[in-house]
Amino acid sequence: MSSMINAAITGTGSSTPKRVLTNFDLEKIVDTSDEWITERSGIKERRIVENGIASSDLSLEASKQAMEEAKVTPEQIDMILVGTVTPDYLLPSTACILQDKLGAKNAGVMDIVAACSGFIYGLSTAQAFIQSQQCKTILVIGVEILSSVTDWTDRNTCVLFGDGAGAAIVQDTNDDRGILATFLSGDGSLANLLHIPIGGSKVPLTEDNIKERKHFIRMQGSEVFKSAVRSMGDATERILKLGGITSEQVDLLIPHQANIRIIEATARRVKIPMDRVFVNIQKYGNTSSASIPIALDEARKSGVIKPGSMVALVAFGGGFTWGSALVKF
Ligand code: UT7
Repeated sequence: MSSMINAAITGTGSSTPKRVLTNFDLEKIVDTSDEWITERSGIKERRIVENGIASSDLSLEASKQAMEEAKVTPEQIDMILVGTVTPDYLLPSTACILQDKLGAKNAGVMDIVAACSGFIYGLSTAQAFIQSQQCKTILVIGVEILSSVTDWTDRNTCVLFGDGAGAAIVQDTNDDRGILATFLSGDGSLANLLHIPIGGSKVPLTEDNIKERKHFIRMQGSEVFKSAVRSMGDATERILKLGGITSEQVDLLIPHQANIRIIEATARRVKIPMDRVFVNIQKYGNTSSASIPIALDEARKSGVIKPGSMVALVAFGGGFTWGSALVKF
């Protein structure tokens, strides 16, 4: 038996709200059109929660599916990592609330704030805890209720976002598979291009500053677009190099679903044809940290990912943050 401990994804799950908001619905809310949104982003519809549904609720459903597939009990979970920028509360973490809902009483709990890269940051953290033998079973989540921080009067942003959650169980294995490599990066000097200006310790909320609508996401789309294409391409090249493989050996690329044009540009740069790139942005829009685990779950359940498949995951988001992971199933 090999002494090398690998971290394998042994179960996945996802949860998206039932309520669908189409581009035609948005035409009635802001000055936009189905044609503009489809051409510029690839999005046709997105899922939006009913009032009162929190990130921990969507996470719970996704987690149960992942745990069932991996045959993991709540007590077996050593660590819960929740990637989110839309937590239930500022305090406590959403991981704590999820722990209670699951009855995962033996788990360490923390949220990871890395915006759209949150799930990749979570996977990388899980891999490190498993390979250092501090944990055997980790629940990694990417969840967002972006509708709660969306300015529904701002057509530059409100047409892009959606709600959802994805989960993965990561476990130790001696098999020659699992998370083969991860790469994480960031650039805080570009924070102002995609941020929520107020509501933290720097500018706490007041009645007056809420009127300026600065507690919602602000984005300079075309600047973010350029950085996203560059960083997602670099992160994909980097992970192939770390894994010692070529782009021909990648069975599936799962990029963060922010814009179909960013996805296509990234695929072109790394020479992976679009028939080996997973796309579901048309159904869900940009769900930030949830987009990759939702796509991963769909790709596994539909049989696109099979035992032995080599899958590259790549994300870019606010911060800026970016990163990638190479996983053999
Ligand atoms: O999740 C990770 C981080 N996020 C991203 O990666 C998103 C990155 N950015 C993007 O996906 C794109 O930049 C957008 C989809 C946000 C915008 O596409 P674009 O091709 O960069 O358009 P633009 O921002 O340059 O805007 C073009 C025009 C503008 O009009 P003018 O100034 O040229 O007259 C906008 O006012 O489109 C206008 N516009 C709209 N028109 C109809 C902006 N939003 C809308 C809209 N409907 N919803």
